[in-house]
Amino acid sequence: MTAQISKQILKLKREKGVIILAHNYQRPEVQDVADIVGDSFELALKAKHLEQDTVVFCGVHFMAESCKILAPEKTVLLPAIDAGCPLADTITAEGLRLLKAENPGIPVVTYINSSAAVKAESDYCCTSANAVKVVNVVDSETVIFAPDANLGHFVQQHTKKRLLLWDGHCITHQRVSVEEILQIKAVHEDALVIAHPECQPDVVGIADVVCSTSRMIPESRKAPGNIVIIVTEEGMLHPLKKAVPDKQFILASPKLVCRNMKKVTLELVLEAIETGKHAVDVDPVTATKAIIPLERMLAIGAGISVN
Ligand code: 13P
Repeated sequence: MTAQISKQILKLKREKGVIILAHNYQRPEVQDVADIVGDSFELALKAKHLEQDTVVFCGVHFMAESCKILAPEKTVLLPAIDAGCPLADTITAEGLRLLKAENPGIPVVTYINSSAAVKAESDYCCTSANAVKVVNVVDSETVIFAPDANLGHFVQQHTKKRLLLWDGHCITHQRVSVEEILQIKAVHEDALVIAHPECQPDVVGIADVVCSTSRMIPESRKAPGNIVIIVTEEGMLHPLKKAVPDKQFILASPKLVCRNMKKVTLELVLEAIETGKHAVDVDPVTATKAIIPLERMLAIGAGISVN
């Protein structure tokens, strides 16, 4: 059944000139029909350089929304329209406006895991792949960083600037504990621990490498031993196993599953291509403001001066 639907998707996307983008956390079979699989930064970058008129975005809402902001002339379809991000939901534009009013003149760096309305209130966007770099580029000694406090804490360890943190968290990364990792390490002493910076500070503190999802691939390749403990959402195991088949990957905890990322199924991808369901739209006034921090992030990622 899965193979049959995959075949239909591959045929139809070619006929209709559709491109499929998928985040590393997507179901394996969804990743396998995608044209591009990547982390949030890679997917945002790709959004700027699309030849096709229609994008099927296999990820959560803020990702498809960012794609639409960066490529407003394209049709961006989100196969599971209810795939949200509880981390993005921890902050509203109104909440950020209040924080800015309490801290006048302090620039705001916002994680891409946020709504278009929150981005519209921000000076810069960042992803886990470039958060330190972006904060260091900002021309201010104090920076508001929202909404992920764990990522903010990680950035704080790598910058001289003072960060004012929003208290948001990713409920999936929040679930993994140091004890779970130490239990695995007790059996596999030499295993390399690679964690996502959305994990709690004590988890990040015992990791050998802290990086974005896609960066985990080259970091695993470089692992001195054969075993790598992965501390991020379980979908990441699929691209890792494909790209680095000679290593063994152990997920740090069975709790590392994002329900929202798993809402996109092959059936829904096929339905999106066949019917054009569900197009993501961003109100043009919000989009005009939200594209500024996103474009700044892309320029910083590409090494272009933005000040
Ligand atoms: P990456 O940008 O590292 O892929 O992370 C995305 C994300 O949403 C993590 O929860």
